[in-house]
Amino acid sequence: MIDTRKVAVVGCGFVGSSSAFALMQSGLFSEMVLIDVDRARAEGEALDIGNGSPFAHPIDVYAGDYEDAADAAIIVVTAGAAQKPGETRLDLVNKNVGIYESIIPRIREVGFEGILLVVSNPVDVLTYAAIKMSGLPESHVIGSGTVLDSARLQEALGDHLGVDPRDVGAYIIGEHGDSELAVWSSADVAGVPLKDFCEMRGHFDHVAAQRRIADDVKGAAYEIIARKKATYYGIAMSVARLCGAIMRDEHCVLPVSSLMVGEYGLTDIAISLPTIIGRAGIECRVPISLDEDELARLHASAEALSDVIDRAGLREL
Ligand SMILES: NC(=O)c1ccc[n+]([C@@H]2O[C@H](COP(=O)([O-])OP(=O)(O)OC[C@H]3O[C@@H](n4cnc5c(N)ncnc54)[C@H](O)[C@@H]3O)[C@@H](O)[C@H]2O)c1
Repeated sequence: MIDTRKVAVVGCGFVGSSSAFALMQSGLFSEMVLIDVDRARAEGEALDIGNGSPFAHPIDVYAGDYEDAADAAIIVVTAGAAQKPGETRLDLVNKNVGIYESIIPRIREVGFEGILLVVSNPVDVLTYAAIKMSGLPESHVIGSGTVLDSARLQEALGDHLGVDPRDVGAYIIGEHGDSELAVWSSADVAGVPLKDFCEMRGHFDHVAAQRRIADDVKGAAYEIIARKKATYYGIAMSVARLCGAIMRDEHCVLPVSSLMVGEYGLTDIAISLPTIIGRAGIECRVPISLDEDELARLHASAEALSDVIDRAGLREL
């Protein structure tokens, strides 16, 4: 039976430990299992994060094994090699598919029935692999996808327009990676079309501004990795946001990666689109309106991912 107060995090490096830290502070769970091949690392993180809990919410944080995670409501998988300076997310595929082959079957063996949240990169390809390897219903396997990229877009537009980023309605969709795209055609602030809002705030050079902001968002991880070798706070907040959406059964719209079943003509790949998320995981994709150019770019992004899935031999799983 699922314990609705328990979460597990597999992989306790930069992303896993930051996510665990954010989850401890969220108050969503009263028990958290940390799993890592480096057991001492998991133990150290559990002790450190547990020490902070008296300032937040009571929670039992401990290093454990897959058996301990069997009844968790959510398992967050962040294990895997991270990008080095100059590497793309897709460069990580072989290494991280290998790591997933040693993790996901273990999760399956212990009879896990909750929601599997895939964070390791390339997240879309690993979400697809996790769906195949886990035997879970597709709706229970969610990739963090472009949730972080969309937050970066909201932040950049908020800065540009002098408005709270939370009031910006704009999404990055497609691959969480180099072929991602911003959906400008339906972006808005407080229901006002983005172009009109820009003009209201004295910005008229839409083409140049959109290009600059989309490039900054796409390049954000490269810029951070060049300076501090890894990105982790933004993704940790994304993980906490996603866990909150699931545990509180919010039915909120977040651009996660999930298996396509004909949306925009796409099938048999995982890719990010705005999606309704709740206690049952993925409820449905939201058919956001795309202009001709955006649709073509979404298809190009899907093709890039499809090629990687083929080359990694994941269709046969
Ligand atoms: N989805 C996103 O938006 C996003 C953002 C940032 C990073 N990431 C990805 O998250 C992953 C982790 O990044 P990081 O910076 O934390 O890397 P890291 O090297 O700091 O941590 C990886 C951890 O995984 C563990 N690990 C490796 N193999 C394992 C296995 N078989 N079982 C259990 N644990 C195992 C390692 O011991 C290590 O502690 C990378 O793939 C990175 O690209 C994703």
